[in-house]
Amino acid sequence: MNSTSPQAPALKDVFKNRFLIGAAVNESHITESAGANCEVALIQRHFNTITPENLLKWESVHPTPDRYNFGPADRYVDFGVKNGMFIIGHTLVWHRQTPAWVFQDEHGAPLSRAALLQRMRDHIFAVAGRYKGRIAGWDVVNEAINEDGTMRQSPWLKIIGDDFLLKAFQFAHEADPDAQLYYNDFALDNAPKRAGALALVKKLQAQGAPITGIGLQGHHWMTWPALKEVETTLDTFAALGLKIMITELDVTVLPPVTTELDAEVGPDFKLLPEHDPYTKGMPDAAQQALAERYAGLFSVFVKHQDQITRVTFWGVTDANSWLNYWPAHGRTDYPLLFGRGCATKPAFDAVVAVGRGIHYK
Ligand code: XIL
Repeated sequence: MNSTSPQAPALKDVFKNRFLIGAAVNESHITESAGANCEVALIQRHFNTITPENLLKWESVHPTPDRYNFGPADRYVDFGVKNGMFIIGHTLVWHRQTPAWVFQDEHGAPLSRAALLQRMRDHIFAVAGRYKGRIAGWDVVNEAINEDGTMRQSPWLKIIGDDFLLKAFQFAHEADPDAQLYYNDFALDNAPKRAGALALVKKLQAQGAPITGIGLQGHHWMTWPALKEVETTLDTFAALGLKIMITELDVTVLPPVTTELDAEVGPDFKLLPEHDPYTKGMPDAAQQALAERYAGLFSVFVKHQDQITRVTFWGVTDANSWLNYWPAHGRTDYPLLFGRGCATKPAFDAVVAVGRGIHYK
């Protein structure tokens, strides 16, 4: 079945009474010449919400103290408006892809709390303010919790203190009072981290922070997390009265190269053949296993559809997935529903079957 042919159902239609269906997109999808790219047709046909993979991160949109680079972000937002999509902003306050200068004065010395708060406010007003009324939801703070549930010792935390989250949400709300505002993190199915995030969000709510939702990234493995943990995570955060979104869904089929969940494996990492088993294609049995894994995940999402407002995939096809270059460079992964060349995979059929209420095996 060709995914862009009229016979292939559109994912957004299959799930239309349940939740939005999205994809992370990047500059190659939204430039004028992007029409030649088969991924653009997939985005327009299957998805009703988009997230920018990189172009709204601090280093991209605000690379130097006095320069904002709004060109790509403007085109991203125009693309979403033109296609009638629910447009996500990702992300305002994070420890990664944020230049070192953000935390330093003009002499390279660490900023004071007051100066960093001012800089955070200026950035949020410039970026969220510019797209007011068009970007509908923002990942305000990304990844503030460690795996053991403690607060990540990021420069934001070290310089400002743990009210940096409250401030970020307040600034974002002032900049765009109608935008939905989310806390977004990965591996919240890990019980200690989930407990830490729960405590953090409860504290924010008690302080009156204008938080409206929780983004569960959903960078999953074939065997982790167990579906019952995914259900527990949904129930845990839904009980706070917040919108829950799966914001960065993908399922790696490759063996782990490190036990560190949080690791970026450096360029000196030696890639062994066993780390990259499917360079010439994915065997049928592995395709089938991935399809069953996706069927399991979507069965949970459908069962919990009243708690979930959106499911966004982190990428469009296997060709453009970040998992080909993270945590190690130069691998060939197959984490999404569309293959290299844009054809649908068995995992696509599995997700559609679940969406239509058909038991998938
Ligand atoms: C990733 C992008 O996909 C890559 O292109 C980039 O090199 C690194 O960041 N959690 C997030 C995303 O919130 O922003 C990350 O995106 C993936 C993990």
